[in-house]
Amino acid sequence: MIKKIALLTSGGDAPGMNAAIRAVVKTALKNDLEVIGIRRGYEGLLDQDFIEMKRGSVSDILQRGGTMLLTARSERFKTPQGLAEGAEILRKDRIGGLVVIGGNGSLCGAQKLNELGITTIGLPATIDNDLAYTEASIGFDTAINTALYALGNLRDTSYSHGRVNVVQVMGRHCGDIALHAAIGCGAEGVFLPEREPDIMGLCNIINKRRDLGCLLNIVVVAEGCPLSLEEIKAVLTKQTGAEVRTTVLGHIQRGGSPTSYDRLFASRLGAYAVDLLLKGASGRACGIKYGRLVDFSFEDALAIKKNLDESLYELFELLSK
Ligand code: F6P
Repeated sequence: MIKKIALLTSGGDAPGMNAAIRAVVKTALKNDLEVIGIRRGYEGLLDQDFIEMKRGSVSDILQRGGTMLLTARSERFKTPQGLAEGAEILRKDRIGGLVVIGGNGSLCGAQKLNELGITTIGLPATIDNDLAYTEASIGFDTAINTALYALGNLRDTSYSHGRVNVVQVMGRHCGDIALHAAIGCGAEGVFLPEREPDIMGLCNIINKRRDLGCLLNIVVVAEGCPLSLEEIKAVLTKQTGAEVRTTVLGHIQRGGSPTSYDRLFASRLGAYAVDLLLKGASGRACGIKYGRLVDFSFEDALAIKKNLDESLYELFELLSK
């Protein structure tokens, strides 16, 4: 019987992490479990930066971006020694189950702890949406909406000046934020890490639009795209004669109040994680498929390769011309 659990957030923060923390803590307390919050992810685990989580610890955090438990990318924990130390600390502190809220690297860490005999459950939280086993990750929806807000503003100024605005969004090696945002803002071009960039094709589109009297052009570029913003700008300027401006949205996409989707999704996941622990599960990565919560072994979940949704790319092609 589990009596005490711990939870941590790790890697890049994502809007909705707080909603997940709240759901884990409230569900656990309702089931008479003791709850320990580990601050600063795996780095805080190694430093034993622990706080006791009470009902009041999670009041008024649901709507907040960031993570009240703080986060970090821990190099120490990636070493075999760090990993073993982390497992030992959890064992000594009689933690019966650990909930890890984070992206790919964080869930890999949870998998390794599980292999060392620590009961772990992983919740997907990353704006990148690069975990293939789940249709969504906490923070992705909010990040797209933040990008759409910025892209809407850029459309206004692009039109007023008749310029091409090239906008870089986050996503690491995954083009999901870029593709979803490009469709959502009606962009003229999108460059993704998963596709060879057809920059001459884009120049033709922009030239045709100019001949038709269309004034604005928005090009969304995923940060993992093989071409830099400066390279794209140089080719567009030369081939279209248009004035080009570049914008990097950057960490703006990582913050902000989570959308209703992220709040609900994170809340469902948090309660689900505790239910799994109470049922004696371990080594499970939770996610969502066709609107239903699902869980897989870490091994199965993390082995699935993330591919671009071709149907969405085709939709972009159809609607952008
Ligand atoms: O994984 C989330 C993410 O925001 C990526 O999109 C981006 O490449 C990276 O983190 C940035 O990391 P950092 O906040 O450490 O600069």
